[in-house]
Amino acid sequence: MNKKVKKAVFPVAGLGTRFLPATKANPKEMLTVVDKPLIQYAAEEAVNAGIEELIFVTSSSKRAIEDHFDKNYELEAELQKKGKTELLKIVQEVVPANVTCVYVRQPEALGLGHAVLCAQPVVGDEPFAVILADDLINCGGNCVLGQMLSVFNDRQCSILGVEEVPPEETHKYGIVDPEESDGRITHVSNIVEKPAPDVARSNLAVVGRYVLTAAIFKHLENIPRGAGGEIQLTDAIEKLLHDEQVLAYRFEGKRYDCGSKLGYLQATVEFALQHPELRDEFIAYLEAGFGQQAEKLRCAGND
Ligand code: G1P
Repeated sequence: MNKKVKKAVFPVAGLGTRFLPATKANPKEMLTVVDKPLIQYAAEEAVNAGIEELIFVTSSSKRAIEDHFDKNYELEAELQKKGKTELLKIVQEVVPANVTCVYVRQPEALGLGHAVLCAQPVVGDEPFAVILADDLINCGGNCVLGQMLSVFNDRQCSILGVEEVPPEETHKYGIVDPEESDGRITHVSNIVEKPAPDVARSNLAVVGRYVLTAAIFKHLENIPRGAGGEIQLTDAIEKLLHDEQVLAYRFEGKRYDCGSKLGYLQATVEFALQHPELRDEFIAYLEAGFGQQAEKLRCAGND
């Protein structure tokens, strides 16, 4: 019988050092793009793809994430009293009624692979998704995880969300060795965590979306520490490849690396340009302020 993916893991225990001091007391996943924190975009993507259980792998400094997905009685009562029904709806719909949130602690910062392993008691023996919230992907209607689950439903194997990155940036990503392709789907013969550009076998990078079979757990338990001294999910996937088929899926959509300041700014501008409430005023602001003035801006930056 075909298996369905109903659980998604959100590793959110990382320190977010690329964004200090913003992330000193505030989790990087709570950074806001326009009016929603990154982790809410990720949760919405999962829910839109049909996921029913959201498993957050957290650490002691990430309580704001639990609070964000919890009911806030005081706020709801206040909004109700003031008749702010639109806002009340927004607050109440952060998590739909049929979706459960589970929190698991990652006691030590031992890497992405270790974070995923911490979720094993909740995931059990089922295939599951992993979403890295700082890779924000804008796809219009058909979210990336939804696209990947359609492939999973058909192929019943692990699937990695990939895109081509500039060849000089391979050292930031898990890089796959692609074999023959069928449209957006490519067979994977190998995967390496953060190879230097001169040894990378391709520029096809895994970007924050995985659908994995439960067989990954036994490899996560057994692999030694890899790049950066951490237990790497990529290394466990490399082992999995010896037992099972793993596919790479070139998703449709635009990714923003919101773990970097530039990617975060790009996402903020482009999401604002699509926001129904803000769009017109924001375009007018940009045109009036910056339309013909790129050169002046550059000079101002050098003052
Ligand atoms: C992690 C993974 C890497 C993947 C990347 C996607 O790296 O280890 O394989 O390509 O996410 O964003 P990190 O960005 O946490 O260093």
